[in-house]
Amino acid sequence: KKIIIALDGYSSCGKSTTAKRVAAQLGYAFIDTGAMYRAVSLYFHEHHISLTNPKEIEKALSEIHISFQFNEHRGASDVYLNGLNVEGEIRKMYISQMVSEVSAITIVRKAMVAQQQKMGKSRGVVMDGRDIGTKVFPDAEVKVFMTADPVIRAERRQLELLQKGEMIDLEEILENLKKRDIIDSTREEGPLVQAEDAILMDTSFMTLEEQVDFVIQLHDA
Ligand code: C5P
Repeated sequence: KKIIIALDGYSSCGKSTTAKRVAAQLGYAFIDTGAMYRAVSLYFHEHHISLTNPKEIEKALSEIHISFQFNEHRGASDVYLNGLNVEGEIRKMYISQMVSEVSAITIVRKAMVAQQQKMGKSRGVVMDGRDIGTKVFPDAEVKVFMTADPVIRAERRQLELLQKGEMIDLEEILENLKKRDIIDSTREEGPLVQAEDAILMDTSFMTLEEQVDFVIQLHDA
């Protein structure tokens, strides 16, 4: 059995961590679509691309090549921007602060969605992000929409950043999450919504194991 598992929802609900584990357990590929928008953001930052200049953005998009490569050491895939491993850089706070704005740009979404569809064509993938079950793969066999209490999400994100050596105030993280939620749910070309046939999973009081089991059970059903 080789299907598509779409994990959608807001930031820091445990999507990527769950997706990674589920993919490893099933022998599926894991595609972190947030990492793709983060890589685009990094490129825009490095090349001083104006977010209000469609011509500049279009040219930049034509110069951006994103790929994933499995990192044996981490047991997960690293994201590459034009051949360079940017996995560490894209998780930093300054990228989190610009990524939602970048990912709300219609031509950016078009380009990334097309790439995501290509990457998932052979199925046997777990894809996490936004719009996966609605726009990228409306025909995904398993769709889960993840939510969690904002304070719990902020605490998780803080721990994650701390483990990477970045110490950020809980308040600042909470502000950033809320801002991103608002941008995600007010995007011009259609807000983030739960697919009609998606199953809601509130991870506030779930352990990682419980989240993984939940998705695996849906896969096996
Ligand atoms: O999941 P992560 O926090 O890495 O995603 C970064 C940002 O990219 C999100 O806040 C969201 O605004 C955007 N995103 C998106 N569509 C996706 C994945 C992420 O708009 N499929």
